Amino acid sequence: MTHARQHRIQVVAHRGASDEAPEHTLAAYRKAIEDGADALECDVRLTADGHLVCVHDRRVNRTSNGRGAVSALELADLAALDFGSWKTRGAWQAREEDPDWVHRPEDREATSVLTLERLLELVADAGRRVELAIETKHPTRWAGQVEERLLVLLKRFGLDSPPHARESAVRVMSFSARSLHRVRAAAPTLPTVYLMQFVSPRLRDGRLPAGVGIAGPSLRIVRAHPAYIERLKRSGHQVHVWTVNETADVDLCAGLGVDAVITNRPRAVRDRLDRL
Ligand code: G3P
Ligand code: CA
Repeated sequence: MTHARQHRIQVVAHRGASDEAPEHTLAAYRKAIEDGADALECDVRLTADGHLVCVHDRRVNRTSNGRGAVSALELADLAALDFGSWKTRGAWQAREEDPDWVHRPEDREATSVLTLERLLELVADAGRRVELAIETKHPTRWAGQVEERLLVLLKRFGLDSPPHARESAVRVMSFSARSLHRVRAAAPTLPTVYLMQFVSPRLRDGRLPAGVGIAGPSLRIVRAHPAYIERLKRSGHQVHVWTVNETADVDLCAGLGVDAVITNRPRAVRDRLDRL
């Protein structure tokens, strides 16, 4: 069964406009805002000296010119690395070889490690409403510290206690129900998203862990079990699907009446949704 669309589906830029720009950098998030994303997705990890930075992998090896685990490096170590050239290697080398190329401080910042604090500033200065979907990575290892730091930062930006979950500009996502529980215990009105790679037998009937309002199924779940998505909707949950990049999958999600699609290509997905 498909649904006639009654609501605007949110387009969430996954790690920024990460198809075009290096993921989790200011460059990627600026592009996502420019491309009309309704919300920005980011993964957060703690550095050795307790800063929350936006990095997906446990190690920096894939997305920077450095090596090592984020948790073993201090913010100053990360700030010395280049998080851009792995993605734009050709363009970057051409610039380096161009004697006329002038390194402007803003170019360097655009592809440096991004702190969550800087991302919050970017969103605050966006000039329009841009929401944030923040994913806690490896929260179990840090026994509550990731959530604690996250809530301190959100409080500083006045984002930790929306009057109602529906009005919140921020939501916290995790594959860990325990991490979401910690967030809700400290900030009960902050919306939480339970991410799923597969459907746990315990939750097949469309329930989510206690208190969680939003389901975050993988696209694989949506493709294989559309009836499960309908069950979630019938149970009153919002459904935010990741990672939806292809037109056919955008159409599938729209047909099932999901609430948000998380994508590396915010402009293309928005265009497609607007045409449906
Ligand atoms: O938005 C959820 C999605 O990002 C989860 O997977 O590996 O991209 O963090 P991953
Ligand atoms: Ca993520």
